[in-house]
This record gives sequence, C-alpha cells and structure tokens, in this order.
Amino acid sequence: MSELEQLPLLSATPEGWAELVCANFDAFLLDHACCERKAAASALSLIARHADQPLLVETMVTLAREELEHFGQVHRLLLKRGLRLGPDDKDVYVNQLLTAVRTQPNERLLDRILVSSLIEARSCERFYLLSRKLDHEPELQAFYRGLYKSEAGHYMLGDSVDIIS
Ligand SMILES: [Fe+2]
Ligand SMILES: [Fe+2]
Repeated sequence: MSELEQLPLLSATPEGWAELVCANFDAFLLDHACCERKAAASALSLIARHADQPLLVETMVTLAREELEHFGQVHRLLLKRGLRLGPDDKDVYVNQLLTAVRTQPNERLLDRILVSSLIEARSCERFYLLSRKLDHEPELQAFYRGLYKSEAGHYMLGDSVDIIS
C-alpha cells in the first residue's frame, strides 16, 4: 500500500498538480504561507472557545506552535525569493468544508476537528506529491518532505477524539 493510500481522502489530487505548482512556485508559496498561518489561528481559536478542556488545549498548543513554525519557515522562503505576504484571499475550499460543521456545541467541536483533520490529510498528500517533484531542488525537497511528515502527524489528531472531554 502506498503511503498516500493510508490517508482518509475519498479522491486523489489530480495528476499534474505538482507540476503546475513547480511552474508557479511563487504563487504556491504565497498561498502556502497563508494556509499555515490559518492553521495556527484555527488551533488558537479552538483554545479560546474550549478553554475548559485541558487535553484539547494542550494538543492545540502543540499544534499551533508547529503550524506557526511552518508559517515562519515558508515566510523566510518567501523573503529569500524577494516576495512579501499580501492580504489573505478567502479560502473557498476550507469555507465549503466548514459548512458541514453542525451547530450543537459538542457536535460543532467534533466536526471542526474532523474538518481540520481532512485539511491536514490533504496537505500531507500534496506535500508528498510536491516533494517527489522537487528532485532538482534538494533543499526544498527536504523541506516539503519534512512538512509531509509533520502534517501526517496532524491529521492523526482527528483520530484521537478523546482529546474532547
Ligand atoms: Fe503545517
Ligand atoms: Fe498541519
């Protein structure tokens, strides 16, 4: 079984995605930086909303720290390439997933964690695909391989619903 088949995704990223990214790498990096920052912000917002759940808070502290570190790393890559962060674009993909979140407090928390988990799984898949296309840039390849492993750890957080008390 390939590493990607273990991911809880119903569909695979279309063929050619990584090639398109390599051809538009600056645009990809700008979007990637925003995604990492939003991942950190989302973990922090769960802490604010569920401050009375110690295990969830601890898990989200670790997650927020890692996502913010990813953001910083991508931001440094942007600067190296002479780029600057712009205003955030609306994230249609994430917003559509969030429409599936139920409104009862406990269901809402569970659904938000599951949605986050799906987003992490998709990131994991895409960083893996991208790292395989980056043979010509060993440093970037190692970076995306590292992110692939990190996001693999993050999507598994959705497995441990016992973080919700
Ligand atoms: Fe990340
Ligand atoms: Fe992540």
